[in-house]
Amino acid sequence: MLHGRKVLLVIGGGIAAYKCLDLIRRLAERGATVTPVLTRAATEFVTPLSVAALAGDKVYTDLFDLTDEAEMGHIQLSRAADLLVVAPATADLLAKMATGQANDLATTLLLATDKPVLVAPAMNVRMWEHPATQRNIATLKTDGVRFVGPNDGNMACGEFGPGRMSEPLEIVSAITAALADGPLNGKHILVTSGPTHEPIDPVRYIANRSSGAQGTAIAEALAALGANVTFITGPADAERPKGVNVVEVQTAQQMLEAAKNALPADAAVFAAAVADWRMANAVNSKIKKDGSGSMPSFEFAENPDILRTVSQMTDGRPQLVVGFAAETDDVLANAIAKRERKGCDWIVANDVSPETGIMGGAENAVTLISDSGQDTWERMSKIEVSRKLSAKIAEALS
Ligand code: CTP
Repeated sequence: MLHGRKVLLVIGGGIAAYKCLDLIRRLAERGATVTPVLTRAATEFVTPLSVAALAGDKVYTDLFDLTDEAEMGHIQLSRAADLLVVAPATADLLAKMATGQANDLATTLLLATDKPVLVAPAMNVRMWEHPATQRNIATLKTDGVRFVGPNDGNMACGEFGPGRMSEPLEIVSAITAALADGPLNGKHILVTSGPTHEPIDPVRYIANRSSGAQGTAIAEALAALGANVTFITGPADAERPKGVNVVEVQTAQQMLEAAKNALPADAAVFAAAVADWRMANAVNSKIKKDGSGSMPSFEFAENPDILRTVSQMTDGRPQLVVGFAAETDDVLANAIAKRERKGCDWIVANDVSPETGIMGGAENAVTLISDSGQDTWERMSKIEVSRKLSAKIAEALS
């Protein structure tokens, strides 16, 4: 699957560098050629000898190591690969990349390359969440850099949260997606998916029956056509799609923030079943029965409409915005009105009445509504709907 593909792997100086040994092995098993470059700090975590043994190639360690400049200069080295991968991408490396520094071999290669770049961040959770790191990430995304991870988890420093480097197989999937030859190469597409959970109190929430299956399948189909996909998901049952940048959220407000952070994008597909309302008076303590037999009274507030917000952006609106219309009555009429009201380009209408088995099921029956009219597709699997929709998106963006 990666036969003949050339990956230049920049290994940064973090404890997660040890995972790169397994990453190199997995890539080699799939037929890729890996050229490793270690930053000076990385050599404190893995030895050039073990990296070279697994890669079966020379290991480059810093700019002045290129005594063989005549044989393979840094410019050539940065362009001979099909893809540059930075793993682990430390906060320091991300900062240097975002500001265009080139003060060692790794950063020089990253600045000199004309090839796509994928980074797998790994750092302490506070460093990840720091506004400076988040600013650098936003800059790099705008520059077209792809991200995989980080994951949530226990970290070597003893804290818990986002910052753990993705596992080698997750990075392999992201590399495969980044190298996918397809009509969506070079396009960034945002996909929202799953339900949102709106807290009532610490133990209860408002939710819906969305499994996230349709959004997940769309993200995978777009990635298979070569797109760089940012997948923003609520707490869905569906397994997360492979080879995409996954952003986990809980509430509609968080989903809106994540969507804004993911822009710019060439297209956006809003497949999430966003809760229309949240509690206006959510509380931090569990609501208890008071013995009177009376129900607590809840006040609701309307959630932001993410699809409408993005569709109606005057600055930075994706070229193509696709919404879904989940309806139980007057499906087409409601969907047509919804498209107008929200201002999106296309709307995918589906009947989510319980008897259709669509919500939470494996199949979908949709009508695509656009400026050019209505196109009703026969009932098919959500995967086939996704492939067909992705092919149409590729056509529209070409
Ligand atoms: N949507 C959104 N943000 C919301 C609500 C909906 O982004 N707060 C998006 C959905 O992802 C979907 C489209 O809007 O693409 C339509 O969602 P749907 O639930 O069908 O419609 P509603 O906006 O809830 O409208 P209505 O209450 O009239 O059904």
